[in-house]
Parts: sequence; C-alpha cells; structure tokens
Amino acid sequence: MNNKVLELSSSFNVPKKYWDTIHISGEQHTFERSKPAPYLKKAMEIAKELNLNRVVEIGATRFAITDKCIDYFFGDSDPFVAPPCCNDGHGGIFWALNGFETHSVDIDPNCKTQAIWSFENIKKPFPPNLHLNMPQDGIQFLKDFDKEIEILFLDGWDVGTDLYREKHLEAFNVAKSKLSPVHLILIDDTDFEIGAQGKDHLLSPELLKLGYKLLFDGRQKLYINDYLQAEVSIVKEQPKTTTEMVNHPKHYGGEESVYEVVKVAEAWGLDMDAYLFNVVKYVARAGKKDTDKELQDLKKALWYLERKIQNLQK
Ligand SMILES: C[S@@+](CC[C@H](N)C(=O)[O-])C[C@H]1O[C@@H](n2cnc3c(N)ncnc32)[C@H](O)[C@@H]1O
Repeated sequence: MNNKVLELSSSFNVPKKYWDTIHISGEQHTFERSKPAPYLKKAMEIAKELNLNRVVEIGATRFAITDKCIDYFFGDSDPFVAPPCCNDGHGGIFWALNGFETHSVDIDPNCKTQAIWSFENIKKPFPPNLHLNMPQDGIQFLKDFDKEIEILFLDGWDVGTDLYREKHLEAFNVAKSKLSPVHLILIDDTDFEIGAQGKDHLLSPELLKLGYKLLFDGRQKLYINDYLQAEVSIVKEQPKTTTEMVNHPKHYGGEESVYEVVKVAEAWGLDMDAYLFNVVKYVARAGKKDTDKELQDLKKALWYLERKIQNLQK
C-alpha cells in the first residue's frame, strides 16, 4: 500500500459519531451530525495521491450551491458554520470543481437544474468535466457505462427508502468489472448504525470480504481495493501446500523454468518494486493465462508502468 495514502488516512481525525436512523431529530441532523465536506476533501486528497481522476457519483446534488457553500467547503469545514444544504455534501459539484472528471447520476431530473443553477450562482462557467446524467437510474447507468471507474461514489437511494442497503450492494456488483486496477469506493450516510442502518450495511461486509481496506469511516466511508497485496501475493505469499496452479502457474513460466516470472523478477531486483514487478508479470502472462484477456493484461502492464513513471516525475 502506498505509504502516503496510509499517512493521509491515518492522520484524518474526525469524530466518529454514529446515529440511529429512526430517532435522529431534525435539529441533530442539521447541527450535530458530521457534514460530508471533510470526508470529501480527504477522499479527493487520497485520489490525487493515487492519480485517480474519473468519479462516478450515484445520487447527485439536490440543492444548488452558493458562494457560502464554496466558502464553507474550501474553508475550515466547521460543521457549525455550514449552510444547511451542505448536509448533503454537493459531492459531484465539488469533485468537478477540484478537477476530477465527474459523472453524476440521478433519477430525479431536478438535480440537473440544481447543478446548472449552482454555476450561475457562483458565476463560473459550467465545467466541461462535470457530466450530468439525469434522469437516469443508477444501476442502469452503471450497466451501460463504458469507461473505467476510478472512484465510485455511492450516495443514492436515500436512507428511509426500503431497499437502499440492497441497492448500494447491487450498484457495486454491477460496477465491479469496470473498476480500474486501483480504485476507491466512497459511500455516504455510513454513520447510521442503529435503527435501519447505514447505506453501507450490506456493502461494507462484502468489500472487507474481498480484501478492501477501510481508509476512513464516519459520515462517509472510503475503501481502497487491495491492489498491491493482491497482485504480489499470487506469486509470493501463497503457502507451499497450495496447488501448483497457485504457486507456479504455467502462465508465469512454471516451477522448472529458470525464467519463471518470480525468479526473473528476483534476479533483476524487481520483486522489491510492486509497480515494475507487475509490469513484468502482466507482459509475461499476456495471452497465456487467458487468451481472451491478452489486451486487458497488456493494459494492466501499461497502467503500472505509467504509474511508476508518474511517481518518478513527482
Ligand atoms: C442524498 S442525495 C445525494 C446527495 C449527493 N451525493 C451530494 O453529495 O450532494 C440522494 C439522491 O439519490 C437519488 N436517487 C434515488 N433513487 C435513485 C436511483 N434509482 N438512481 C439514481 N439516483 C437515485 C435521489 O433522487 C437523491 O437525489
């Protein structure tokens, strides 16, 4: 795991207060409950550190932003000075204002109007990196989406509707094959632990089961997939008792070969560099592990090579 990412997440100190969906009062909701802004800002910082840029937000901004929201978001994020509309976060708008390519989706056509008014209010041109998809159902949008998703921001199907827990899990499952090799999953309304539970109630256990790491929690939860460990462990950490298919698969050269990927990588000192190790690994197995996935393997190799170059250029 990228040390800077760990540093950014472990130094993020927000009060982790959890609420009861059923008994929270309107006043507590507006004045006491954490606002999304600090979480959004931290997620953006982490995404930038990882060079991730394409966000898909399911469940869009329902209220137009004003200059006050801008001051609050880019200021000290004190929950007591936040305009009440910032309780929703205006996530998609702020992702876009921070330079991310943002695809915002909502079933409610009014969200489109609110986004357009937002930029009239703050007297800025509508940003070309904010793509509005309204009215559209979030699940259907994810099924049809034909680009890689680097940050999946799930905030639809409001708390209070019957199937929001199931829908957030379904949305992730539909998006799964489109997620980039390294990606973040951000979920809002995860601070409801009693009563009807938070939006992540079914999704969080699934993500943890799949090896995702929780980078922060509270009003929002941010997960990262287990990208480096998952890749390296295929050849380095499996116990000897597992089958040859796992320890010395043929597509990496096989146990007998002196040119087996892991041996070559060790000889070249690349086993200490997860990026370069993965470049070699994906080039070596392209077209061999799965003939249908030759292009995908080469793209993965390229992804790790570009990431390495970007890190060196920093
Ligand atoms: C809490 S709001 C989203 C807030 C927004 N993410 C923000 O940061 O300001 C939840 C949104 O989910 C939307 N929603 C409900 N059902 C949906 C569906 N089937 N597909 C997409 N969006 C849906 C609602 O219309 C609502 O606007």
